[in-house]
Amino acid sequence: MLVVLKENSFEVGREAARIVASSLRANPKSVLGLATGSTPLGMYEELIALHKSTGLDFSHATSFNLDEYLGLAPDNPQSFHYFMHEHLFRHVNVKPENIHIPDGTITGNYDTYCCSYEQAIRDAGGIDLQILGIGRNGHIGFNEPTSSLGSRTRLKVLTKETIDDNRKSFAPGEKVPECAITMGIGTILEAKRVLLLASGSSKATSIAQAIEGPVTASVTASALQHHPDVTFIVDQQAGAQLRHHDYYARVLRLTAELTPDRL
Ligand code: PGA
Repeated sequence: MLVVLKENSFEVGREAARIVASSLRANPKSVLGLATGSTPLGMYEELIALHKSTGLDFSHATSFNLDEYLGLAPDNPQSFHYFMHEHLFRHVNVKPENIHIPDGTITGNYDTYCCSYEQAIRDAGGIDLQILGIGRNGHIGFNEPTSSLGSRTRLKVLTKETIDDNRKSFAPGEKVPECAITMGIGTILEAKRVLLLASGSSKATSIAQAIEGPVTASVTASALQHHPDVTFIVDQQAGAQLRHHDYYARVLRLTAELTPDRL
C-alpha cells in the first residue's frame, strides 16, 4: 500500500491524473474504472487539459463506472451518466461504445443485469486502473457499511448518512434516490491497480480507519488492505488522523529511488 500525502485537493487531482495518463500512455487500451462525486473532479479537469494540450488519447480506452442511482435516466442531471458526460466524456475522444455505466433504469431482474455488467468487465479483460473516492462512512462505490467483502455488482440500499450527503446535488425538496446499482467490493478488489482519492476534513476518520484500522465490513474501504497494488492519494485535511506520516513519506522516497514504476 502506498500513501501519498498532498497539500490540497488540487494536488490530489493532479497526481491522480498523472497516474491515469501514464497508464493510458503505457497501454492505450487501458480499462479504467471511474468514479463520480466531488473528489475526482480535479482529476477529470486535469485529464481534459492533458487531452487538449498533449493529445492524451482516450480513443482505445474502455471505461466502467462504479455505480449509478436506481431510478435515474441517463439524461437526468443528477445521474452519474450525466455527470460523466459533463465532466469528462464530452471533452475527450473516448468512444461512446467503450463507455459502461450501470443502468439506473432497469426494473425486474436486477441480478441478471448486474451479472451482465460483471461479464462485460471480464470480456474487456478486467479493470487495469480503478479510481475510487471514499464516503464519510468509509464506503467505496456504494458499498455501504456491512456490505459483504466478497460482494459483486448488485442493487444496494443506501444508508441515511449517504442519502444526506448526496442531497447536496439535488434541488431542495427533490427526492434523493434510496438505492443504487454498484460494483461490489469483490469486483473492485479484482482491478489490477486501485487509486483512492480523498480530500477535506470530513474524510479524515474514514481514511485513518481504511488505512490503519482493522479490515472490517463496517468500513468497506479497509478491504483495500487485501489489494496488492493500492495507492491512497490524500490531502493534508483528509490525512490528518493518520499516525504514520513519516513512514509514508520514507516509503515514497525509497520507492521513487528503488522501484519508480510503482509510482
Ligand atoms: P464525494 O463522494 O467525492 O462527493 O465526497 C465520495 C463517495 O461517497 O464515495
